[in-house]
Parts: sequence; structure tokens; C-alpha cells
Amino acid sequence: MSEWIKIAAVGDLEPGKKKMVQAGALCLTLVNVEGAYYAIEDTCPHMGAPLAQGLLKGNLLTCGWHGWRFDVCTGKAVRGDDGLKTWQVKVEGEEIFVRTED
Ligand code: FES
Repeated sequence: MSEWIKIAAVGDLEPGKKKMVQAGALCLTLVNVEGAYYAIEDTCPHMGAPLAQGLLKGNLLTCGWHGWRFDVCTGKAVRGDDGLKTWQVKVEGEEIFVRTED
């Protein structure tokens, strides 16, 4: 069963920014790429760095620990062996929701 959980407000995150958000028990990084929102897992699959603290350039997020790089729109690894889990995001009015699954 899936559920939409409010994770932020539109005004919380400007284009080009990212932040860690909590969705129930999940720890996610919410990213704003030119006004579109994406949710990815916050934990780097390499050695567990918090990806919300990585370097974002366009849609590419580079982990601050060892430089693995991810496309936040797809979760695919651009540099590194493993990609990221992603979650569906929607905006309703001024609120941002993520769809979680059991
Ligand atoms: S922990 Fe992210 S690249 Fe190593």
C-alpha cells in the first residue's frame, strides 16, 4: 500500500537547492531542479554519506565523501557502481508530497 506524505512547502526550497526531509521512517533528500522536485534516498550507496550535503549542479548531485555522482531525476549513477532509490513527488497548492510504499 502506498501513501502520500507531506514533506515540505514550495517556499522551503528554491531552484538549485536540496535538503534532507523525513517521510515517516524514511530519510530522503528533496531536490529542486529548475522548479521540478525530486526525492532520492539520503544515504549514499557507497559508504553511507548524507547526500543532502553533497554538491548539486543542475540535475547532478556529487557525494561529498568520495565523488560518486548521481542524476537526481532518475537516480542513476553517473559515476559509481550503484544508483539511488527514488520516490514519486507531487505538488498540490503550496505543499510538496512524496509517495511512500510499504
Ligand atoms: S560515501 Fe558517497 S561516494 Fe563514498
